[in-house]
Amino acid sequence: MNSPPDLDMRAVRRAFDDAAATYDLHAALQREVADRLLARLDYTTVKPSLILDLGAGTGYCTRQLEQRYPRAHLVLADLAPAMLSAARGSARRFFSRRHYVCADARALPLAPASVDLIVSSLTLQWCEDLGAVFAGCARILKPGGLLLFSTLGPDTLHELRAAWAAVDDAPHVNRFHDMHLVGDALIHSGFSSPVMEREDLTVTYADVLGLMRDLKGIGAHNAHQQRARALYGRRQLTRLADAYERFRRDGLLPATYETVYGHAWAPQRDTRPQDGSTVATYPLSQLKRR
Ligand SMILES: C[S@@+](CC[C@H](N)C(=O)[O-])C[C@H]1O[C@@H](n2cnc3c(N)ncnc32)[C@H](O)[C@@H]1O
Repeated sequence: MNSPPDLDMRAVRRAFDDAAATYDLHAALQREVADRLLARLDYTTVKPSLILDLGAGTGYCTRQLEQRYPRAHLVLADLAPAMLSAARGSARRFFSRRHYVCADARALPLAPASVDLIVSSLTLQWCEDLGAVFAGCARILKPGGLLLFSTLGPDTLHELRAAWAAVDDAPHVNRFHDMHLVGDALIHSGFSSPVMEREDLTVTYADVLGLMRDLKGIGAHNAHQQRARALYGRRQLTRLADAYERFRRDGLLPATYETVYGHAWAPQRDTRPQDGSTVATYPLSQLKRR
């Protein structure tokens, strides 16, 4: 699965490196999504020894996971070295059980069948090839291990996309994976019992510049390969602001985030179909554990 196929990964990495110092200031939505994602662990009985925080950023999920599973070792993996440096700042000085890995989610340098739980919040929407990412996750998870993630769906920032369309024809908002294709990619990678849910979260702003500041502050730049490279002038930004006005409700401008939550289990043994079909089998005992 290669959707969205048009990200410039060097631009993604650069944007997150540049945003490492400002991320926490602007990441209220990201923290809310992470809290909602991690609350799903209340309904599982996993007792992980090794957890991977995939796309760890400045380590918000890691800190929650450390509290939840104080005996577990945590691997923080991220494409952007500056994000990992920022995360390092919140580590315990002594007896830290953290390990830092600068890596692309498509090629995780972890041993096969070594991880009990992978948590990934709001990172997969930046991944070029979701099939490769899930295949890697299936490889490093122990049999019966859990993958829990949040990502963004195609309705995300639809107001901003529509407003930019009134200014010019260039792509300004990244494209996002459709939830159903994400589920298909999970099954294709050998995961069993995938569960996908979506909800729309809306952040409101006094003006469009507030939204643009938040996006820049967290590193969520337009990384589309066909993006316009030039800086925008005052005239374009004024036109953007005018076009966004039609969405104003109760005095505020909304920005919608189609938030997708998913989880799936690595099979008890390697049941990935060798013939390209999507049939996977697993023992009944595995069902009882959930
Ligand atoms: C929106 S932040 C989320 C950070 C953190 N999970 C949180 O909830 O605050 C996305 C993170 O994913 C990382 N990232 C983006 N693409 C990645 C990739 N292909 N492989 C690994 N990390 C990636 C970015 O560097 C960034 O730190």
